[in-house]
Amino acid sequence: MTHALPEQKLLQLSEFVAEHLALHFPRDRWGDLERNITAAAAESGYSEVEHFMQRIMFSPMTHEHVDILTTHLTVNETYFWREPETFEALEQSVLPRLIQSRQERKRIRIWSAGCSTGEEPYSIAIALQRAIPKIKDWSITVLATDINPRILHRAAAGLFGPWSFRNSPPWLKAQYVLPKEKDVFEIIPEIKRMVQFEYLNLADDVFPSSLNDTDAMDIIFCRNVLMYFSEKRSSQVVRGLSNSLTHGGYLVVSASELSLPCLSDFAAANFPGMVLFQKTSEPPNVQQQIPAGAPVRTPGGHPGQSRPVHTIEETEPRRRENEILSEAELPLPMKPTVDTIPALHAPGHDAQVTRMLQHDAHTSEEQMFFIRAYANEGKIDRALQSCEKALAADKLNPGLHYLYATMLQENNQLEEAITSLKRAIFLDSNFVLSYYSLGKIYERLGNASSAKKCTDNVLTILSTCSQNEILFASEGLTAGRFKEMIIGADQTRDPA
Ligand SMILES: C[S@@+](CC[C@H](N)C(=O)[O-])C[C@H]1O[C@@H](n2cnc3c(N)ncnc32)[C@H](O)[C@@H]1O
Repeated sequence: MTHALPEQKLLQLSEFVAEHLALHFPRDRWGDLERNITAAAAESGYSEVEHFMQRIMFSPMTHEHVDILTTHLTVNETYFWREPETFEALEQSVLPRLIQSRQERKRIRIWSAGCSTGEEPYSIAIALQRAIPKIKDWSITVLATDINPRILHRAAAGLFGPWSFRNSPPWLKAQYVLPKEKDVFEIIPEIKRMVQFEYLNLADDVFPSSLNDTDAMDIIFCRNVLMYFSEKRSSQVVRGLSNSLTHGGYLVVSASELSLPCLSDFAAANFPGMVLFQKTSEPPNVQQQIPAGAPVRTPGGHPGQSRPVHTIEETEPRRRENEILSEAELPLPMKPTVDTIPALHAPGHDAQVTRMLQHDAHTSEEQMFFIRAYANEGKIDRALQSCEKALAADKLNPGLHYLYATMLQENNQLEEAITSLKRAIFLDSNFVLSYYSLGKIYERLGNASSAKKCTDNVLTILSTCSQNEILFASEGLTAGRFKEMIIGADQTRDPA
């Protein structure tokens, strides 16, 4: 195929979008790439597409560039109750078990990564609403993220045309949306309130992190997203998603992504008509054939490489034989040092890490790492206790006070979290993340003037940082990216 743009330029552009947006445009899709970049250039007011490419590729990526590029380069196709088998598995098996095991804590966290215009996270919220009898007594998180700020804005508005309901069961439209005007339907307020929309680029944002609320997830939907990434990039992203899941948590992909090689560290759990991927303590190592009569879609999908598959009925009895070891049964790894800690970020290590904490004395830095691992496993009480112990030994450590405040927030102890954040700021007056968290709490408490003061402080401190400076206690977030996150979040809010 011939292209108007030189091949060399298309190669450069495809490498650029692969690196910054994770989008994979192999040579046979360069025609699409060329068409889309030409449209993006026209929208940005460039008559010469090459000038536009020069501008985006050779100067720092701005929020505006991400907006225009993602609008033209990504596929946003989505609708309510997409792949109904997945929602049936959720409603009939996954949620009832989760609800049962959380009767005491009453906390469930679900993330829709690559949520597009919102039909997926709103469907998840509807499933939760149907499954949990007294949902007001529960702390529910439905985090919905996407790289495209424009569609996030639409998603947050909660307005949909008839096409969004093309495959949904009739009760969904009857009970969960209200007609707004001709051919426009609005999601009901109870469901709308349950979903929190945020900008997040799976290619280069940090997760899991309490900063963007991507830790300790029970279920992550990442459907029809990984299929647009290169194999290498989807492996990186799936590693991060795995770290964001609690043990036993599920990663949900679409039927057309079940055979992606990057999913091989998960155990495949077979539900009627669908396979979900479960995070286990150890990479699955028992080879088991798909049971006769099981649904035809095969996880893994590579001939001769069958992966452990259990039907939902089999999950409990087979668990010991298959994959999930209790914490006490896990082998105890070597005592970590600051140098070896990063290696423990690999998927499935949280349980081992938290166990190490009980066995050895550690520096504050190591303890903070362990405390985060507790939190990632959803063990907030233990994280809090460990934080208190660490603080007793190291009272002047602003990072520990900040971490303690994060755990207190998770536990809904907002006044105590405010006190801890103020201590952290007293110890380090440039502690930008402490100001940010404090502002978020004031916002939750309806104290708009204090929230604004905190945001002003955040922006003032950020203006003194270089773009690439890694922020203290942020687990890798740069000042430039953080600034974009704050501005992006502001633009995402539904003005209504
Ligand atoms: C086809 S839609 C999938 C929507 C929904 N998950 C579903 O299955 O119905 C793909 C979404 O992934 C988003 N996306 C693409 N690259 C992304 C990235 N690097 N980070 C976050 N989201 C991304 C796109 O903006 C788009 O909204």
